[in-house]
Amino acid sequence: MFENGLIAIIMASIGILFLVRILVYICQFLLIVLKDVKEMASIVWGDITGTEVKRENRQKIQERIGIVSGITKTDGPVAVTGSSGYIGSRVVEDLMGQGYQVHACVRDSSNEKKVDHLLNLNEQDLEGSVELFEGDLFKRGSYDEAFAGCAAVIHAGATVGFNRETPQEVYDGCFTENEHVIESVRKSGSVKRFVFTSSFAAVGHPRPEGYVFTEKDWCGDNVEGYKGAWTEENISKNRDIAYAMAKANTEKMIYKAAEEDGSFEAVSINPLHVIGPLMSENHNQFFSWQFWILQLLKGEDFGNWNERKLRGSTMLWNMVDVRDVARAHRLGTESPNAKNGSRYILSATDPSGEMFTWELQAKLKELFPEIESIGGEEMEDGRPKEKTYDSPRSYCSLAREELGLSTYSIEETLKGTGDSYKAINLL
Ligand SMILES: NC(=O)c1ccc[n+]([C@@H]2O[C@H](COP(=O)([O-])OP(=O)(O)OC[C@H]3O[C@@H](n4cnc5c(N)ncnc54)[C@H](OP(=O)(O)O)[C@@H]3O)[C@@H](O)[C@H]2O)c1
Repeated sequence: MFENGLIAIIMASIGILFLVRILVYICQFLLIVLKDVKEMASIVWGDITGTEVKRENRQKIQERIGIVSGITKTDGPVAVTGSSGYIGSRVVEDLMGQGYQVHACVRDSSNEKKVDHLLNLNEQDLEGSVELFEGDLFKRGSYDEAFAGCAAVIHAGATVGFNRETPQEVYDGCFTENEHVIESVRKSGSVKRFVFTSSFAAVGHPRPEGYVFTEKDWCGDNVEGYKGAWTEENISKNRDIAYAMAKANTEKMIYKAAEEDGSFEAVSINPLHVIGPLMSENHNQFFSWQFWILQLLKGEDFGNWNERKLRGSTMLWNMVDVRDVARAHRLGTESPNAKNGSRYILSATDPSGEMFTWELQAKLKELFPEIESIGGEEMEDGRPKEKTYDSPRSYCSLAREELGLSTYSIEETLKGTGDSYKAINLL
């Protein structure tokens, strides 16, 4: 009797232990599933759970659940709008260097000054190739042919308005006509990534000196700081407002379009003062940053041109190399870390790339000792006559971290800019 009781107690204990063990296994399993579901949800619908997924986990999970993110050269050609331009041309060159087939969109393929440097890339020892397609932002359906079968589109074309086009043309050429580009992307059915060349103008806004801008900033923040100028009515009157609003509105529009469509992701690149070697004489656009570097190298103070003062000479130059900007665009199409709505500031890597005009002048003197007179700003007793407002400070840290971008030193960039001006006989 006593023995039977003991056996029953032992059996019951074993049973309870067994049940507890099973319960522990079930809990562990549920925890793993819950974590996976949470991470998958944050990838599919954004970070709704409040937990940012670690990058390496993101890639693994994306591969596991088959979410398309980022392209490779085997996925198909990449189309580049604004290919004839300063940034667009370098994007084409970079893609070709990585073995891509590039559909270069230009307004006029018979304009040798704008396309010869692109066609010459086919003669160089690059793994990829380039083919020209005509397209105009103002014409609906203009990019249908160029985007057909493409895995990604890099949209670097825009009516930039280096003091030529009206503010309204700048706005329409960037925002209003972007609908045409997005329409062609949708029609293609093959585009997985759309990378838009936005601008730091969509980020920067009035802030105290020394404030460091990041991708979380938008030009429409701190509206009071604009003292009444930040209005829709000012689009047709003020070029800076038109440009900033166009870039910011375009960004918001493309992220929404991509989210609704579901077949492609939209990513933006937000460059600041882009300089670096020019690929053709046509890249010396009047009023561009590279144009002003040339004026300095020609001995004119910043803002002066042909004995006319076109702008103030004090400024904080926050410089990025055009080749880095180009590479960031390509990485924006490839990187699994980028997602719909990702934006990347392309500015100085660190404070070495941020210089007041008088500091830039000193650096150019160091890099080009053979040039007798280099322009800068007005000085008094070896010090700047006027104080410069210390803004915009910003670094391309997120692009380096998430996209894996490596950057040129500011010395390489400035030297490369001057040397390219010599090579095209403008200096
Ligand atoms: N450079 C900078 O410092 C900087 C900084 C921030 C952002 N960005 C942005 O970067 C992009 C490229 O600028 P960029 O410096 O390379 O300027 P760019 O050299 O003037 O290039 C602009 C390109 O857009 C094309 N384009 C203009 N209007 C067009 C239209 N109606 N239809 C089709 N194409 C048109 C031009 O073609 P054509 O050759 O036929 O004129 C050119 O290829 C722009 O979106 C600009 O806002 C530039």
